[in-house]
Formats: sequence, C-alpha cells, structure tokens
Amino acid sequence: MSKKIIYFDNASTTQVDERVLKEMAPYFKEKYGNASSKHAIGREAKEALEKSREIIAKAINANPQEIIFTSGGTEGNNLALKGLFLYNMEAKTGKNHIITTKIEHDSVLNTCRWLEKLGAKITYLDVDKEGFINPKDIERAITEKTIVVSVIHGNNEIGTIQNLKEIGEVCRRNKVLFHTDACQSFTKTELDVKKQKIDLATLNAHKIHGPKGVGALYIKEGIKITPLAHGGGHEKKLRSGTENIPAIVGFAKAVEVSSPEEIKKMEKLRDKLIEGLLKIPDVTLNGPRKERLCNNVNVSFNNIEGEAIGSMLEEFGICTSTGSACKSNTLEASHVLKAIGLSALQANSSLRISISKYTTEKEVDYFLKSISKVVEKLRAISPLAN
Ligand SMILES: Cc1ncc(COP(=O)(O)O)c(C=O)c1O
Repeated sequence: MSKKIIYFDNASTTQVDERVLKEMAPYFKEKYGNASSKHAIGREAKEALEKSREIIAKAINANPQEIIFTSGGTEGNNLALKGLFLYNMEAKTGKNHIITTKIEHDSVLNTCRWLEKLGAKITYLDVDKEGFINPKDIERAITEKTIVVSVIHGNNEIGTIQNLKEIGEVCRRNKVLFHTDACQSFTKTELDVKKQKIDLATLNAHKIHGPKGVGALYIKEGIKITPLAHGGGHEKKLRSGTENIPAIVGFAKAVEVSSPEEIKKMEKLRDKLIEGLLKIPDVTLNGPRKERLCNNVNVSFNNIEGEAIGSMLEEFGICTSTGSACKSNTLEASHVLKAIGLSALQANSSLRISISKYTTEKEVDYFLKSISKVVEKLRAISPLAN
C-alpha cells in the first residue's frame, strides 16, 4: 500500500475525471475550430461554447449571458474586483471602497493590495475563531463610497462555508454589490445566485475534476465592469482572447457529472478523518464542525511542525499540505490561521487534508494509522513537545 500514492491534497487541485477527458478530446483534434469563425468548424466550436455556458449558468441559477469564461479563479477574482474598481474610476462615480475579509485567497487579497495603490480604500474584516464573518460587521463597514463586498464562499484552508444568503441580503439592502469567490465550494454546496443575492461569482474547473486553466465569472445582467484584456471583443467584450474550447467543454462536463451522492460520501469520510485525528492527544481542529466543505480537514498538532509531518507522511505515500501551502516559499504562517486566532507556532503545526470523490475508506484508515505513527515519532524528538 505504501507504494501507491494517496492524494489528500484535493483543495490544491484534483485529478481530471475520465468522462471530462473523453469529452474534451475531440476539441483538440477533429473539432478544433475557433468559435469566432463563421464556417462549419467554427460554428461547431461556438455551439460547444454556448452549450457549456448554459450548463454552468444552470448550475448556479444564472442566465447563460451572465457567464464569462476566464482562465481560472485567479483571473476571475482579478476581473471582478479590478473591473468594478476601474469602471467606477472611469465613470467618476466617486466610489472607491471595497469590503473584504482577512481569510480570502491571495488572488483577492493581493488584488485589493494592488488596488490600494490606485486609490482604493479596502476594509479587511475580521472573522470569528471558526472563520465565520459576521454580516453585521459588513453592514457597519458599508459607506456611500462602497462598491462591492467580496467574501470567499468555502475557505480553501479551513473549509468554513459562509452564509451567503445573509451577506447577500445585507448587500442588497444597502445597495452595494456582492462578489463571492466560490472556487472551493462550487458543486460541493449550494450556490444559487438568485436565492443568495450574488452579483458576481468566481468559479474554476480544476478543483472539481475539470482541467486547469479555465474558469468563469458570473456577472449579473446590468453590472458594468471594465475589462482587463482588450482585443477582439470576445465574451461580451469583457475578456478578449480566443476561447479555450476544450477546457471550457471539460469544465462544463465536470459540473454535469458532479453529484449529491459524492458530497455525502466525502462528508462521511471527512468526519471519520476528523474523529480519528482528534483521538491523537493535543490535536485541535481548525475551522467549524458544521458548515464545513465536504472535502476539507485542517488540524493543528501543537508543538510539531506541519511541514515535518507532511514530509514524513510522504514516506508513507501520502500527499497532504500545510496551512501555509500557498506561501510555502516564504515559510510565512498562514494568514487564514492567524485570522482565526492561532499563534504562528500553532499555525505552523497545522496540516490540511483534502479528499475527493475518489477517496476510499481504506485510504482514510491507512492515513489515520500512518499519521499516529508520524506524530508519535516527531513528538518523541521535538524539544517543544515534552
Ligand atoms: C478559494 C480559491 N480562489 C481562487 C483560487 C485560484 O484559482 P486558479 O488556480 O484557478 O487560478 C483558488 C485555487 O487555489 C482557490 O482555492
């Protein structure tokens, strides 16, 4: 068993589903047309593009014309926030304020930091110890200059699922836009742009067994944004560039084949992992027990380094990631774990275990056995643990 790779890093990316791959293949070979071409091969590509748009729109209760294809979550978040800010700047509306949280993905946080250089005022809201945002804090932060509130739906590190409906209602009532980064939550929990009063939503494919490098931004009809890429005017002039048809078709297929049964299965395995991990002495769960992404587990081992645990687990053939995975080059403690009140030491002793629809109970059992051995070994040599 130890020779086989057990992949518990599905929040980073997932294996492409066979059915997705099969759906994509013809669009590299026989059906390679440019969706802007008027001839038959072009029309075939255009048809596939529009069919994919319909599938993705339906999955979030939007209209197809409200879906703009992008290169993924990073571009979607950049397009949403920069696009709105630049539109307001160009139109001289006097609005320059964005409200977000301290637990966003870097593609939101670094976009906001960059916008500050252009004169944006950004409010970075605190979250509670499980990672939930208080809608009342949002309401208090709104001013007459507020353009948009941007809140991550399912957190990529600690799995917290925010109550989008409550936040959406606050935004609608106060006449500000509401954007959510739904890259981790899409197809894993309800995302209904009408019910949850969402104005913009970022989606991507590679977290849901689709290809990398493709995603979508939902923009509610009538909302104006300035494009970042100028060119031939593709995607309603909001995202110029020849559409990546094979990837878009694959994205739509990944959405189409996702199912509620898979979510239930993942929830069961996630809970088994959490219960097993909490039996190890001095282990704490980061993020909530309820309202948690079905594939996410994040724990702190206290006094031993998450990085050390991760590399020892690799000797058992298990791939996980540390809370600071996105910043592993800098070895900086995770901003999300800090935001929920962990010390740098606790944050650096954390491990994220993220499963997928392919995870089996046997793998979970093997993981739990292996992690106990690893923790015991590391605690025996840790100067901090005794
Ligand atoms: C919550 C969240 N937002 C955005 C992204 C970025 O998506 P992409 O890798 O498609 O650019 C990710 C992926 O790491 C993510 O987890």
